[in-house]
Amino acid sequence: MSFSCAAVAAVFVVILSGSHAVTGARVGGMILRQSSSSVQMFTEAPSFRNGAECAAGADGRVDIAMTLDANYLRGTMAAVLSILQHTACPESVAFHFLTAEDDDHGLAAALRASFPFLDLRMYRFDPSRVRGRISRSVRQELDQPLNYARVYLADTLPADVRRVTYLDSDVIVVDDIRTLTSVDLAGHVVAAPEYCHANFSNYFTDAFWTNPALNGTFRGRRPCYFNTGVMVMDVDKWRAGGYTHRVEEWMAVQKQRRIYHLGSLPPFLLVFAGHIRAVDHRWNQHGLGGDNVEGRCRGLHPGPISLLHWSGKGKPWLRLDARRPCSVDYLWAPYDLYRHSSPVIEEW
Ligand SMILES: *[C@@H]1O[C@H](CO)[C@@H](O)[C@H](O)[C@H]1NC(C)=O
Ligand SMILES: *[C@@H]1O[C@H](CO)[C@@H](O)[C@H](O)[C@H]1NC(C)=O
Repeated sequence: MSFSCAAVAAVFVVILSGSHAVTGARVGGMILRQSSSSVQMFTEAPSFRNGAECAAGADGRVDIAMTLDANYLRGTMAAVLSILQHTACPESVAFHFLTAEDDDHGLAAALRASFPFLDLRMYRFDPSRVRGRISRSVRQELDQPLNYARVYLADTLPADVRRVTYLDSDVIVVDDIRTLTSVDLAGHVVAAPEYCHANFSNYFTDAFWTNPALNGTFRGRRPCYFNTGVMVMDVDKWRAGGYTHRVEEWMAVQKQRRIYHLGSLPPFLLVFAGHIRAVDHRWNQHGLGGDNVEGRCRGLHPGPISLLHWSGKGKPWLRLDARRPCSVDYLWAPYDLYRHSSPVIEEW
């Protein structure tokens, strides 16, 4: 009791003596009234300004697409902050968020509160569009409809978005994102780091490899694994080639006979593996979340790093909160906008 009173008194001393007295008191009052709202859970990021070399207007615009969901909001915030902090042209980055929630206002409001100057565009992704096509994978989170939103980017984004870079919500960018987004696609629809040493056969089941109607799919190409959490897409070519439908067709096959284990990744591999533009591995240090079952710690791969990706079961904010972080999670922590002090106030 006496501890709580002292804590509250301390909070008010800070509020009254600080230069942001009015804001602090208002925010404090809102926390006391509605502690569950996302808006008050995050601090405001610094504002970032374009350097002199940045092209003005639509020419210089960099389009980033991500999904937005309550469970990953903290990751999304950190990803956005990391992108803005490391690019020379932060005001040129447009963020396109796809959300499946009926009420996305809380999530969008939280982003706007933390990034008041962000070029932020919201799109509703209708989960029913994909729900009937999803089959169960090894990890339940991978079966969420929003996980498939990347298949529908070309149908969702406005026509003036000709190229988009899709990013998962568990990434941190530590380099200028424009180096990735301006990659020469050389006529390809998708660019991403690819991994040709990975044993490609393991992503598909025997039902796939032994079916003569299916197992010739990769004939004539050298298929390599790539991770769909970081992809540059030529949206025009995607639309013209009807790639949404091509990916959906493989999801329909999976629904009938189990030809792969994971969620949204294998249908991408079936359509694109061997046909993508390879990007330097530094743009997707994936697997930092550990394996899909236990989420054990994994270290960094050797070589330079521009993007860190906590793919796999473990997420850095959960492990940090549980006080059982992996060492790579300390690389994520500096981008965390979560307001750790709020529980003290909520206790009162
Ligand atoms: C890849 O994995 C399959 C099945 O697990 C195995 O039969 C095959 O020998 C492996 N190939 C290589 C090149 O390691
Ligand atoms: C495809 O399946 C047939 C029948 O099981 C098999 O004979 C053939 O070797 C398979 N082809 C490939 C490329 O795996």
